[in-house]
This record gives sequence, structure tokens and C-alpha cells, in this order.
Amino acid sequence: IDIKNLRSDTGGLITLDSGFKNTGACESKITFLDGEKGILRHRGYSIEDLAKGSNFLEVSYLVIFGELPTKAQYEKFEKDIKRHTLLNEEMKNIIDGYPKSAHPMGILSSMTCALTAFNPITVNVNDPVALYEGIVKIMAKFPVLAAWAHSKTHGMPLNYADNSLGYVENILNMMFKIPTETYKINPIAVKALDELLILHADHEQNCSTSTVRIVGSSEAGLFASISAGVSALWGRLHGGANQAVLEMLEAIQNDGGDVEKYIAKAKDKDDPFRLMGFGHRVYKNFDPRARLIKKAADELFEDLGTSDPVLAIAKHLEKVALEDEYFAEKKLYPNVDFYSGIIYRALGIPVQMFTVMFAIGRLPGWIAQWREMRLNKEPIGRPRQLYIGEPLRPFVPMDKR
Ligand code: ACO
Repeated sequence: IDIKNLRSDTGGLITLDSGFKNTGACESKITFLDGEKGILRHRGYSIEDLAKGSNFLEVSYLVIFGELPTKAQYEKFEKDIKRHTLLNEEMKNIIDGYPKSAHPMGILSSMTCALTAFNPITVNVNDPVALYEGIVKIMAKFPVLAAWAHSKTHGMPLNYADNSLGYVENILNMMFKIPTETYKINPIAVKALDELLILHADHEQNCSTSTVRIVGSSEAGLFASISAGVSALWGRLHGGANQAVLEMLEAIQNDGGDVEKYIAKAKDKDDPFRLMGFGHRVYKNFDPRARLIKKAADELFEDLGTSDPVLAIAKHLEKVALEDEYFAEKKLYPNVDFYSGIIYRALGIPVQMFTVMFAIGRLPGWIAQWREMRLNKEPIGRPRQLYIGEPLRPFVPMDKR
């Protein structure tokens, strides 16, 4: 067979794999995932070790640049990020135009794209200095935009970063600080949020990451590609599931805690309801992140000396589902989104902001994947299709139709 000719004709050989269930789109050195065994590693380091021994900024450096930073590299990275936390004041005019009811993910996606107008740098991958500059800029400005999305939807003033604070402290400070009051950052909240962000840092070729790579493959810029990633993350089947889980748990609570009723609904083929936070395209065993997040939730409530009835509902739901034949047969386990919302809620983060927090966590992964794709000089992403429409037919003028 003359492969060259086949490729140039639309009737050539095409592999059809909707949802890319079995199609690899790239080679990558960033994240290793074994869905059968429930293993997740970044740059060769286990997610368990990173969650225990590292912090989000260090993991970001590792994921993006491939190695754990030395002390000097870490300090430089942190300092360079702090140098870029200011946003152009005119960006406030854009955010002013949103109604208060806007979803923060919509604000975050479009404001991230708007960054391109105020930072018209071309992140040139062949120039290591420009590439590094683009990376620290987005690491610096993205959490500010996320906090602004929160403030906007709550009618609160738009805070800037306080560069005397750490990366994760700043996220909480920008979201919750009120000018007339002193906001005391709770170190317990910082520790919990830091761990959650680490656990979201990258997850190989998921929907939003593939989006970032494919948008970037046309040589669209880093900020525009990340904005597209935010939009992809928003959906309920991906990052938006963390909001959907909490809404589901609250619905169960308001329904008298009848977990079995919701399990039955999820199993009913005629009911579109799915158990949110359950199931995963790749994990056919426990999602290791869910295990760590469940433990983190328990530790957080112990540290805070409080409790949340929805945690008990979530645990009951998990137990009943895992003992059920339907979920066992389909290998459906809790995923990263199942327990994360309970932690966000305990930190005072409103439900509409849950996916925004996920986006902050996933940012280093998107950057790393965009950088890797461009440095590898990957070709433009352009899937094929099998045309199943009409064959050639004669055009019929309007008065004859
Ligand atoms: N509740 C009930 N049934 C489910 C669920 C669920 N949560 N998830 C999958 N199933 C069933 C499907 O109905 C399907 O059954 P069938 O074979 O009888 O038709 C089977 O399990 C396989 O499901 P698919 O949708 O084909 O699996 P896919 O890999 O395409 O989807 C997904 C994975 C989207 C995560 C799915 O499990 C789901 O919708 N889960 C709920 C949403 C969610 O939690 N998303 C977050 C994922 S993690 C992340 O992106 C950050």
C-alpha cells in the first residue's frame, strides 16, 4: 500500500477512537499513571511522597522543569513569581463588566485570555529567558485572577497579592481579606490547601491538559492555551465535578441522608443521574489522590476541632457504593473530586469557587505540558474523522426546495 497516497485522500485509513479511549497523543516525561494499580508519579516521584514532604510551589517547579529545585533555585522561582503579581489596573475595567452572578470559572477563563492583551509577549520557546518569564508571569497572575473572580461574585474589593506572604497564604489572603478588618491566615487552612493543590498539579493527558496542548500546538501563546484549559476544566465530567459532588451531597442531606436512594438512581439506566466524584477514564482501581484527600479531610477536621455532616454522608455513600455489584463490575471508585469539596467548604471557600481552586492546582501541569509540547516541536493537533454524511448531491436553488 502506498501510505503517502492513502494519507492524501480523505478515504484513507483512519483509526476511529471517540473520546480517545485508547489513543496516545504524545510522548511525555512529566507524569506516570497506572490506572490498574492506582499509581501516580510526577517526574518519577510518588504523589504520596510529594504530598507528605513537599509544598505546592516546589511541586510546581518539579512538574514544570523536571527536577526538584535546589534551595537557590526555589528561592529564585518564588522571588521571580512575586515580582509579577501585579496586574495591569485596566484589567479591573474588564472584570467590572461582569454581572455579580457570573460563574467564577467563566471569569477566570476570559481574564486569563485577557492577560495576553496586557502582556503582549510572545512566549518564545526557543528563548529560555522569555520562556521562563512567561512561566513565572502566569504562575504569579493566575491566582490573583482567581481571587478576583471570587471577590467580584461577592461584591468585595479586588485585592492584590501581599508579597510578604507565601504562594498559598496569598490565595487565601486575596480571597478573604477585607480592608476594614484584619484577616488572620489560619496555618491549618494553608497546610490543607497546599496539599490539595499538590494533589491536583498534573494528571497527564486529561481533557483540559489535552486542550492546552492542542491549542498550543497551533503556536497559540501560553496564556491563551491556559485559558482554553480553564474552559475545558469547567465541565461537570471533569473539574466541575467537585462542585457537582458537594451539591449532590447537600441534596442527599436535605433528602434525609437517604444514600441508598441515590445509589439506586445512579444504577438506573433510564435515569441520567450519575454518582458525581465516582468513576474515572483511567483509574480502574482506587484513585490515589482520593485516598490522600480523604485522609486530609479527616486531619483537617481534627485540627480545626470541627465536623461537617456531609463528610459522614460522603463516607457512607462511598461504603455503600464500593459494596455494590454495579460499581464493582464497572470499576467505579471515588476520584479526586469526591472529597476535595468538603475540604474547600471547611476552609470557607464557596462551592462555585471549587473548580477555580482545582485550576490553580492544575496550572503547573498545564504549563509543563505546553512547554514540553512546544520544546518537542510537536506537529499541530488535528484529528481525522470518518465522514458519514450525504454523498455528492446537486445544489437546489431556494425557490425549488
Ligand atoms: N455513576 C454511575 N455510573 C457510572 C458513573 C457514575 N459516576 N461513571 C461511569 N458510570 C458507568 C456508565 O454509565 C457506563 O456504564 P455502561 O457501560 O453500562 O454504559 C460505565 O460506567 C462506563 O462509563 P463511561 O462514561 O463510558 O466512562 P468514561 O471513561 O467515558 O467516563 C467519567 C469517565 C466521565 C469520569 C465518568 O465516570 C463520570 O461521568 N463520572 C462522574 C463525573 C466525575 O466525577 N468526573 C470527574 C472525573 S475526575 C476529573 O476529571 C478531575
